[in-house]
Amino acid sequence: MKIQNILYIYLLMLPLASCTHVSNSGGDAVIERKIENLLSDMTLEEKLGQMNQISSYGNIEDMIGLIKKGEVGSILNEVDAVRVNALQRVAVEESRLGIPLLMARDVIHGFKTIFPIPLGQAATFDPEVAKDGARIAAIEASSVGVRWTFAPMIDISRDPRWGRIAESCGEDVYLSSVMGSAMVKGFQGDSLNSPTSIAACAKHFVGYGAAEGGRDYNSTFISERSLRNVYFPPFEAAAKAGVATFMTSFNDNDGVPSTGNKFILKDVLRGEWGFDGLVVTDWNSAREMIAHGFAADDKDAATLAVNAGVDMEMVSYAFFKNLPEQIKSGKVKEEVIDEAVKNILRVKFRLGLFDNPYVDEKRPSVMYDESHLAAAKRAAEESVILLKNEREVLPLKETVRTVAVVGPMADAPYEQLGTWVFDGEKSHTQTPLAAIRSIYGDKVQVVYEPGLTYSRDKNVAGIAKAVSVTAHADVVIAFVGEEAILSGEAHSLADLNLQGAQSELIAALAKTGKPLVTVVMAGRQLTIGKEAEESDAVLYSFHPGTMGGPAIADLLFGKAVPSGKTPVTFLKAVGQIPLYYAHNNSGRPASLNYKPLEEIPVEAGQTSEGSSSSYMDAGVQPLYPFGYGLSYTTFKYGKPKISSRELSSKDVLTVVFDLENTGRYEGTEVVQLYVQDKVASVTRPVKELKRFTRVTLKSGEKKTVTFELPVSELAFWNIDMMKIVEPGDFALWVAPDSQSGEEIGFRVID
Ligand code: BGC
Repeated sequence: MKIQNILYIYLLMLPLASCTHVSNSGGDAVIERKIENLLSDMTLEEKLGQMNQISSYGNIEDMIGLIKKGEVGSILNEVDAVRVNALQRVAVEESRLGIPLLMARDVIHGFKTIFPIPLGQAATFDPEVAKDGARIAAIEASSVGVRWTFAPMIDISRDPRWGRIAESCGEDVYLSSVMGSAMVKGFQGDSLNSPTSIAACAKHFVGYGAAEGGRDYNSTFISERSLRNVYFPPFEAAAKAGVATFMTSFNDNDGVPSTGNKFILKDVLRGEWGFDGLVVTDWNSAREMIAHGFAADDKDAATLAVNAGVDMEMVSYAFFKNLPEQIKSGKVKEEVIDEAVKNILRVKFRLGLFDNPYVDEKRPSVMYDESHLAAAKRAAEESVILLKNEREVLPLKETVRTVAVVGPMADAPYEQLGTWVFDGEKSHTQTPLAAIRSIYGDKVQVVYEPGLTYSRDKNVAGIAKAVSVTAHADVVIAFVGEEAILSGEAHSLADLNLQGAQSELIAALAKTGKPLVTVVMAGRQLTIGKEAEESDAVLYSFHPGTMGGPAIADLLFGKAVPSGKTPVTFLKAVGQIPLYYAHNNSGRPASLNYKPLEEIPVEAGQTSEGSSSSYMDAGVQPLYPFGYGLSYTTFKYGKPKISSRELSSKDVLTVVFDLENTGRYEGTEVVQLYVQDKVASVTRPVKELKRFTRVTLKSGEKKTVTFELPVSELAFWNIDMMKIVEPGDFALWVAPDSQSGEEIGFRVID
């Protein structure tokens, strides 16, 4: 070979060499330069390859071919470290530009160690729990090479028929913002660049939780003002917390599918919030715009999605196959593609993938580490809500000798893990029955008879057996609820009563006259009014995960004291939906004292019932309000003092009050601060949560609690679609839940 030829080949290889060894160290400016350099070397196919996410094909060879050609930017659902490395090696060493792959997985509430479902985590009102749970999930998932999770889901969820309420932080804007941001911080760690950090994904942008009728994937009709006041804030908070990625939602809002919605993706997310990470579609959601009737075909769908601001497409290949033609015909500008690729590469650089593309296959396993299990137990413990405790049945007294454990959820290791568990194994689950036996078996005799084999079981034959084992018991603990499959994606329900013959089981147990403790484990708030009435005590546990058993056992026996609060309003009847505490008032606010239906006389006059906005049969009162939860101890709230009755929008409102533990147990209270804007240019919610904190007090102890609330946080999107604090009268409440507390007035003067 002539010298010139050798030189020529060497020169040809230069860009390749410089790209395969791109380093991600350095700040953003350095990263931006590297992105520009890399981009300038990319062919259109390679760019579109980066925008293409595939779901793992079982056969690795099929993927290798695509990766070599630079046709894949990200792979979803690969969780084997050896395979992850093998695929990554092909991307880094055998594709022309050596751009590493981004490995993704739905790690929603734990990887192997499963924490309570997000709705349960929200019930803790403890951002540390959410952050720790996400951190541990990241440590476990990243140990097999997963560097991107599709969590947190921060869709405001006000309809328990919607199965995905389980994955949410519930109905409240502020709680979802705080818990969602904590999860982002946990997943992403101190720096995305660390090998144990995984990119989080704020999903589903936006409005998905408002699906009409609670039917998954259904259309939503949310006004711009409601988007801005209610549905956007958790996402804006996640963006502020540094979330690396966003996912578009399946729903169309007011006729525009999110995956083709320029307003939300460009104007708001990029324009107003300055987000510079990656936006991915939901599974196939670009092509689903065809079924919506928004796109004519794949070409159109791909065009609409990228032009709206989507960067990466999940699984449907519409971008890769169709965009070359659309670019040629001018329907999509190459600059749009360049922007998308930059956003993708930026996340890959931030994750340190160019420097450390591989996972350490030899590292000792971190799965189910003792510290992970301890954190999962703490989370489960804090997530359980005591809804009722008559005659102080709980905690179980020393005099209790025999405990009858019944119900289909007492020993259901798979079911208590909840929805969205792909990697956690039921063999590691500790159920309540197992925990009661192993931790308290030396103190009490445990007799067990499930009565029903699973939550939908309608076979009443076993109920008599369950009743018979209660004969010698001092107390009956009934574990009922929902199997994991009854909530989650595409698992909406129209009836929220206990499934199968569970209600009959509770009724039969109640009839025995034995003290009855009902423990509900479910993916949503169920309509359990009748069963709560029949029970002496009720503990509600949104599917509590791997360590649910020991957590519940310790709560039952008083080693731990309940502190969870409802992150959603509990309903008396499904027909009350939508029922959430932060509603606006009608011109005829519902009267709380309505006449029972049966008391209305026959042929009553048309206007006899007070003409207020209510239901004649169920009223508008919830079964349990948002923010509600009892303790074994009692707390006394002192009269709050506020810093001033007249404030300017630049001030910080300080609220100070004493909280005293007046009961016999050490306990933790979630104290809550609510406000109301009394009169505004548009009607405002009757109450909005603005602050909360957990306060732990020994029996008899008293502490002064201080809340600080910048008046600027009273801003909302007003009649002119401006976010401002409108001067005028406000009210605040310091309270143990959304329905109590004494109203205190203050005024914002400018
Ligand atoms: C869900 C997403 C999820 C994705 C990938 C979709 O069906 O809506 O939340 O992240 O699948 O598994």
